[in-house]
Amino acid sequence: MADTGEGMGDESDDTTGADGTRLARLYVNGIDRPIELPILTPSLGQEVIDIGSLTNQGIFTYDPGFVSTAACDSNITYIDGDAGTLLHRGYPIEQLAEQSDFLELCYLLLHGVLPSADEKAVFEATVTRERGVTEGIQAMVGQFSRGAHPMGIMTALTGALAAENHEGLDITEEAHRLKTAERLIAKMPTLAALTYRHGQGKPYLPPRDDLNYAENFLYTTFAGDENYEINPVIAHAMDRIFMLHADHEQNASTSTVRLAGSTGTNPYSAIAAGIAALWGPSHGGANEAVLNMLAEIGSVDNIDAFVEKAKDKDDPFRIMGFGHRVYKNYDPRAKVMQQTCHEVLAELGVDRDPMLQMAQRLEKIALEDEYFIERRLYPNVDFYSGITLKAVGIPTEMFTVIFTTGRTPGWIAHWREMVSEPYKIGRPRQLYRGRTARDYVPLDQR
Ligand code: SDX
Repeated sequence: MADTGEGMGDESDDTTGADGTRLARLYVNGIDRPIELPILTPSLGQEVIDIGSLTNQGIFTYDPGFVSTAACDSNITYIDGDAGTLLHRGYPIEQLAEQSDFLELCYLLLHGVLPSADEKAVFEATVTRERGVTEGIQAMVGQFSRGAHPMGIMTALTGALAAENHEGLDITEEAHRLKTAERLIAKMPTLAALTYRHGQGKPYLPPRDDLNYAENFLYTTFAGDENYEINPVIAHAMDRIFMLHADHEQNASTSTVRLAGSTGTNPYSAIAAGIAALWGPSHGGANEAVLNMLAEIGSVDNIDAFVEKAKDKDDPFRIMGFGHRVYKNYDPRAKVMQQTCHEVLAELGVDRDPMLQMAQRLEKIALEDEYFIERRLYPNVDFYSGITLKAVGIPTEMFTVIFTTGRTPGWIAHWREMVSEPYKIGRPRQLYRGRTARDYVPLDQR
C-alpha cells in the first residue's frame, strides 16, 4: 500500500524528508519499515513518485505499456489529457497553429524560446542549405521495388544518413548535436519526396532555395516540371499539418528515440528507430488506417454496423483515429486538423467528399454513443489528417511519412534534451514467470 503522507492522521506527521522533499511511504509485507520514496513536483501536471531506490529493497514496479510511468523529466511539451491541452514550451498548439509556422516551431522545440526575426532568418537559411542528400542516398532509393512501403524506405534512408554522418560526429559537443538536429529537420522532407517519387517512377527533384519548407516539400514531391504551380492554401495546410505532428511528449516513437539514444548511439539511427515505431497502426500508422477503415465501411449506411463492431470485444475492428492513451477529451490537434481539412477541401472544390461526409457522420455517431462516452474516446490528430492528405493528392501509404516529417523536430529535440545532460542507459526489468532452474537433459535421454 502506498501512502503519500496525507490523511494518515494516526501516523507520524513526518511527510517530508530531511531536505523538505515530500515523501510517499510504501508498506510491503515482509519489509518491517515503510519504504520512503520522494515525491517530485512538476511545473504542470501530475506529481511523480521517484521509485529509483526500490531495487535496493529487492522489489520492482510493474507497468506494461507504461500507463502510470514517467520515464524521464522534460521541458519540451506538456499535455493535459483531461482538459485537452497541448503546450510546446508553454505555448498552446492552437495559438502556434494560427500564428506561427513549422520552422519557427522547430526552433522553439530545440531552443525553448521563440526566435527573433534575425534568429528565425538564420535558422531558415541553415535548413534551406542542409536540404540536399547525397547521390548515394538518391541511388539507394532506386534499389527498392516500386511497391515497397514508403515507411520501410524512410527507415532505411534515415539509417543511411546515420552511416554517412558518423565519422567525426561527437554527441558530447553541443555544436554537433545542434547540427544533427538541423540536418534531420532539413533532410526529412527531401527523403519523403524522394520516397514518393520512387513509388511514382519519377526522378529525384533537387530542392529549390526560393521556396519555404512546405512549398519545397510540395514542389520536390509533386512537380512534373519547372513551372509546377504551388497552391498557397495547400502549402499553408501542409505547413500546419507538419506543425500539428511536431511533438507530443513521451509517445511510443519518442520514447523509442530516447531509449535508443540512451545507449549513446548515432542520433540518426535513433531517429530511424523512432520511424520504425511510428509506422504501427496504433500510433502514427493510424492516419493511413483511418482511410483504409473508411474504405472498408464504404458508405454512410454501413456506419452503424461498424460502430457496433468497434464495441464488440470479440471483433478486432476499432475506429481508427479515435481514442488516445492520454487525451480523455478532444485532441486539440484534431480540432485544428478538422478546420484545415475543411479549408483544403473547399479550396479544391471537393468539400462534399464522400470520405469527409462519412468521417463526419462516424464522428457524430461515436461521440453520442455511450460506449465511447464512457471510455472517453474522442477523435485524435489522425482522424482528419488522412482525409486532408488524400485531398492534397498524397497516397495513403505516404500518410505516415508526412507524420514522420512533422515529428522529426520533436524526436530530435527530445534526444538533444536527454544527451545534453548526464543520462543513464535505459534498461527496464521484468516480472519473470518462466521456468525455475533445471538441469540439461542429454539428447539420448530425451
Ligand atoms: C497517435 O501517444 C501519443 O501521443 C500518440 C500520438 C502522437 O502524437 O504521438 O498522439 C499519435 O498515435 C494517436 C493515436 C492513433 N491511434 C489510433 O487512432 C488507433 C485507434 N486507437 C486505439 O488503438 C487506442 O485508442 C489507442 C492505442 C490510441 C490507445 O489505446 P490505450 O490507451 O491502450 O487504451 P485501450 O486500448 O486500453 O482502450 C481502452 C478501452 C478499451 O475498451 P475496454 O477494454 O475498456 O472495454 O477503449 C477501447 C478499448 O477496447 N478503445 C476503443 C478504441 N480505442 C480504445 N474501442 C474502439 N475504437 C477505438 N479506437
